[in-house]
Amino acid sequence: LPCDLYGKERVNSTGWDLHDLDDLDTIEQARGPFRSHQWAVAPLIEGTAQNTVARTVLNPARHDDVVGTVAEASVEDVETALSAARPWDADANARADTLNRAADLYERNFGQLFAVLTREAGKTPMDAIAELREAVDFLRYYAARGQELSAPARGVFACISPWNFPLAIFTGQIAAALAAGNGVIAKPAEPTAITATLATTLLHEAGVPHAALQLLPGRGSVVGAALTSDPRVNGVCFTGSTQTAQTINRAMTTDIAPEAPLIAETGGLNAMIVDSTALPEQAVKDIVASAFQSAGQRCSALRILYVQEDVAEPFLQMLYGAMDELVIGDPWDLRTDVGPVITPDAQHEISAYIAAARNEGRVLKELATPDAGTFIAPSVLRVSGIAALEKEVFGPVMHVATFKAAELDTVVDAINASGFGLTFGMHSRIDDRIEQVTSRLNVGNMYINRNQIGAIVGSQPFGGEGLSGTGPKAGGPAYVKRFARAATRQVLA
Ligand code: SER
Repeated sequence: LPCDLYGKERVNSTGWDLHDLDDLDTIEQARGPFRSHQWAVAPLIEGTAQNTVARTVLNPARHDDVVGTVAEASVEDVETALSAARPWDADANARADTLNRAADLYERNFGQLFAVLTREAGKTPMDAIAELREAVDFLRYYAARGQELSAPARGVFACISPWNFPLAIFTGQIAAALAAGNGVIAKPAEPTAITATLATTLLHEAGVPHAALQLLPGRGSVVGAALTSDPRVNGVCFTGSTQTAQTINRAMTTDIAPEAPLIAETGGLNAMIVDSTALPEQAVKDIVASAFQSAGQRCSALRILYVQEDVAEPFLQMLYGAMDELVIGDPWDLRTDVGPVITPDAQHEISAYIAAARNEGRVLKELATPDAGTFIAPSVLRVSGIAALEKEVFGPVMHVATFKAAELDTVVDAINASGFGLTFGMHSRIDDRIEQVTSRLNVGNMYINRNQIGAIVGSQPFGGEGLSGTGPKAGGPAYVKRFARAATRQVLA
């Protein structure tokens, strides 16, 4: 898509087409050598890592596949990194050139990145392609935004990123901080430190100085806690749970300078409304993608579907039919639609949630899963009445409630009452009804007559309201500005 927000010539990354035989061949050739490769990674700091503890990483889809080892950073390593951290000492054009070079390197190394995304994070080929495209888009888009800034960098940012987009969000946070001229200490999520290390190595290869980008794989309670309470940190960028964002916020308020920003993107209890005028085939396709793609492990994923009572029964039957077509299995297989959830802990927690619903007779539809690995069967659970959900279940679990035509405002009230406001979807062919809903909803990204995942950098800035995040929206024009100081100085003559 041509996108003028990039600047004169930039376009979004085109990625690869899984329906094109030549592209399939290219993907197979490029990722093939990494099918059983084992990576060994360690903190990337200016100095020598000490007292690291090595951990083995297993493929969540097949526990007999060892992906590699991660040496996790110690508190001593955090101190070494903080002492060495420096803002990026280069002008905005040189920084942009370097970030654009990194984008090219990501594309050139896509085989290795695909392989690690699949084997470490359980990404299906479609998800891996989308993720790589998004990472590349973030690099190029923020590079261009950095060139427009007139304000100085804040200093050093701690970037704490999640495992569900271990390449895209990891890269997006860092690219925005670097584009504004900051130094970065990155703390990737524990399950996906290998992907983060490969990405960091490519950023260094492109020319980002090591003092301006250090990587500390490790525990949130060790590395995250030390970084977010240290006054040498001038800002924190975090994507993850609302609870952790609140913990970081408290630590920063106590220990870090008051002007240091927390840029947080958190969870959602995302809803979709399907009314009696919706095109059912389109709505079903969009629901399956929104709720079950990426095994539901997206903050944007659809969690609760409100279907108008008049059409609910045939509509849900059509949905269950579509779910029966889903291929669940090893994401290395190009046919797979739904891969594993990330860890055994996640699997146990989500299974227990579904089991409790089963005991209450609320499971409407459940698929079968492979035995190996940490799989969760895509499931649909009934909720009674028009209530908001209380808890974000981060997996392929969707809830369904029904409403009567006269209850549309009650549905909107319930969605707003959840306190979260990340994504929302609506399928309807009545413009006034769409307006009635969207004008009252406190939600960051609303998607009409389409799916509600996969915001495109540069054209669909992404971020929520209320408990879903602080803003500014990622992939939008305001984002990089938050990583710079306000331009307050004036010389009056
Ligand atoms: N940006 C992703 C999406 O739009 C979620 O993090 O799905």
